[in-house]
Amino acid sequence: MHYYRPYGDFMPNLRFIGGIAWMAVTIAGCGVANPPSAQAPMPSEPTLINYVDPSAVQGLNTRTLFSGETGNLHVHAVYPAVADAPRLTEKLHGTVSEELDRFTRSGSPADTLPKPEFNVDWQLAAASPEVLGVRLRIGHSMESGWSEARTTVWYDRTKGRVLDSADLLAGRPALVTLAGIVRSELALRGPLVTPNALRPDREMFDSLGFNPRGDLVVEFDDKQVGLEVAGRVAVAVPSATAAPLLSEVGLRAQRAAVQAKKVPVPMSREEIKAASTDKPPARSSKAGSVDCARLRCVALTYDDGPGPETSRLLDILRAHGARATFFSIGSNASARPDLLRRMRDEGHLVANHGWSHRDLTMLPSIKISDQLIRTQHTIAQTIGQAPTLMRPPYGDGGIQVAAIAGRLNMALVRWNVDSEDRQDADPRAIADRTVARAEPGAIVLLHDSHSATVDAAPEILRRLSAAGYIFVTVPELYGLGEMVPGRIYESGGVSTALDR
Ligand code: NI
Repeated sequence: MHYYRPYGDFMPNLRFIGGIAWMAVTIAGCGVANPPSAQAPMPSEPTLINYVDPSAVQGLNTRTLFSGETGNLHVHAVYPAVADAPRLTEKLHGTVSEELDRFTRSGSPADTLPKPEFNVDWQLAAASPEVLGVRLRIGHSMESGWSEARTTVWYDRTKGRVLDSADLLAGRPALVTLAGIVRSELALRGPLVTPNALRPDREMFDSLGFNPRGDLVVEFDDKQVGLEVAGRVAVAVPSATAAPLLSEVGLRAQRAAVQAKKVPVPMSREEIKAASTDKPPARSSKAGSVDCARLRCVALTYDDGPGPETSRLLDILRAHGARATFFSIGSNASARPDLLRRMRDEGHLVANHGWSHRDLTMLPSIKISDQLIRTQHTIAQTIGQAPTLMRPPYGDGGIQVAAIAGRLNMALVRWNVDSEDRQDADPRAIADRTVARAEPGAIVLLHDSHSATVDAAPEILRRLSAAGYIFVTVPELYGLGEMVPGRIYESGGVSTALDR
């Protein structure tokens, strides 16, 4: 019997990709040698899953457990919530919280540099009126480098029941059979993969999904069945072989995965460029539309959305006639394109904050580009304008990140006023700090992922307005001297030339 031999699995550091086929093509083209056993011709990479477009799922929102710096850690943890599936949301919340607790407890000395990082991103493996599948990708840095675990939680919408991936199988005998198939496939994978580590237990088979052909994709955590350099190890079991092993709900999940609306085909780099405008976009955000050399301007910037609090913030900004700059996370934006369109229509500026809020300083260039390009693509496809500004997650990004941003036609924007809102549940305190620290030309760091920040918005706007401030987008601060791609900006009128 023949099983697929996915070459992608052999490539080191493919872990972060999460199954977007076009990225695999990009990476495969970068000259990484494949071991001999992986060179069987393939029509496409069968273990790469074409995920479901989250914006097509009614009532879906994102939940941010935490995003930002906490103690000595860089943490970004987001999961989806579907309105009619509260038990699923509860389960995802529990899983992510537990993993974060475990990471926090495993601890590290307070002064470790670089800061340890914990990052959770998600995709939809399937979505139908009957079944939902959510794949969590849980990554963290350790002494030996970056490591990712994957788990796919399923939900039977007809019964309101949360399922483990193993529940897609027809009981214990099916699990044993599947383990045998997977083990003999792994045996062909070369010395980096260790098939003997495989056991037929539910824990090891906790991330099952389907590719667009309906083949069953079994994936493992980093290092679970291979050496560290093996990266993401996954096996695709052909649909016909898998079908007899699936439970009734497993068959429904397979159908749902094949039929669901998939993530949009990405734009090419040229198409993204074509969507870029020379000047910063958004009708009312044109540089020079407000004379910030003479007026008291302040640029409020909101990071880490869009999310469930964003529409309330947009209402408040509209009521005060204020414009802001939103450094949006690509993954969140793909789930809530409606909010991006509203930002554009109401005169705000949509900017790039990376795809999944990874610390860019810890990534090689190709992955930095991936974080930025995927986000650019999502934003450009949604609002018809590619962002011209980016802010690196955690504010960390020096000359290297600025140079990559520059090649993608973006300037790098930091801030000079930190509202320190993320750890503060008290809107009054957030407003007090923001108002006290504001000054003409300031770029203020805030977060629309944080509800207390949104609660603080009316007071910030009222008090700063009373002090004569006008709320503008970041490019407006710089007036007619337009913002230059590849430069670093920190506050009105101050930029750092890349090539000093
Ligand atoms: Ni952020």
